[in-house]
Amino acid sequence: MKTALITGASAGIGKALAYQFAQQGFNLILVARRQEALEQIKQDLESRYSIQVENQIFDLAVSGQTAELYDTVKHHKIDVLINNAGFGDYDLAWDADLSKVMNMVDLNVRALTDLSLRYIKDYVDEDAVLINVSSVGGYAEVDVAIPYCATKFYVSSFTEGVDFSLRTQGKKLRAKVLAPAGTQSEFHNVAADGSGIDINELYNGAVLMTAEQLAESAYQLYLSDKTVGIVNPNNEFELKDAIFPQVALL
Ligand SMILES: NC(=O)c1ccc[n+]([C@@H]2O[C@H](COP(=O)([O-])OP(=O)(O)OC[C@H]3O[C@@H](n4cnc5c(N)ncnc54)[C@H](OP(=O)(O)O)[C@@H]3O)[C@@H](O)[C@H]2O)c1
Repeated sequence: MKTALITGASAGIGKALAYQFAQQGFNLILVARRQEALEQIKQDLESRYSIQVENQIFDLAVSGQTAELYDTVKHHKIDVLINNAGFGDYDLAWDADLSKVMNMVDLNVRALTDLSLRYIKDYVDEDAVLINVSSVGGYAEVDVAIPYCATKFYVSSFTEGVDFSLRTQGKKLRAKVLAPAGTQSEFHNVAADGSGIDINELYNGAVLMTAEQLAESAYQLYLSDKTVGIVNPNNEFELKDAIFPQVALL
């Protein structure tokens, strides 16, 4: 049986990814800060499917926690690592709460990079997949979320670049970018928390994809040979090769 590690699995997209991969027969390692929420998900998944779920409670934005998490789970063969934990901040840059933004950089960029690189070192020659959750905001600037978009540009660029070099160097590991558009989850309340932005005005009647729909599409990305799975302006999921230009020197 294969094993998937999913960060940010206590709610939203990560929780839906946990249900999707469980349904496909994966054992799971689920990571988040909320122990009770993860415990309920573990019990539900183990009663529905013949799989094993291991919960790991970590605040990944805290320095040193990604290394500790990786050391704790590294005895497992991790076939899929999904770096999904992340959050946003809705504000104009000059109104931003600096401590919230720096915490966001710590989670969206630092923690994701640390876990990705540890995984890449161990699995570069394995039949394994790294999926990093970016955003459509990782390919286009959104005026009320510029620092958030910058973190996601990093995620997209880093992950596409890793996949590019894995392919050009003939390695077995694959790296993929999942780029959701607005999706129903706790994300919007967290992003608007402490800001002057009214999320009802922001989304003004827009139909958001459900986290379950997105998770089904994410599984298609996992199965495909493509690098990027992105939601287009018509709210349709598209699989693509890399979007950023690439230069091979080696
Ligand atoms: N929803 C959207 O519209 C949307 C669009 C584009 C991209 N995304 C991206 O999709 C990913 C998932 O977001 P979501 O929409 O599912 O948001 P969500 O409903 O707020 O879920 C976020 C998850 O991340 C976990 N998390 C947050 N901070 C953490 C930390 N410091 N350490 C460990 N886990 C942490 C949360 O669990 P705990 O609180 O229990 O720790 C939760 O499980 C994010 O990377 C987000 O940027 C979302």
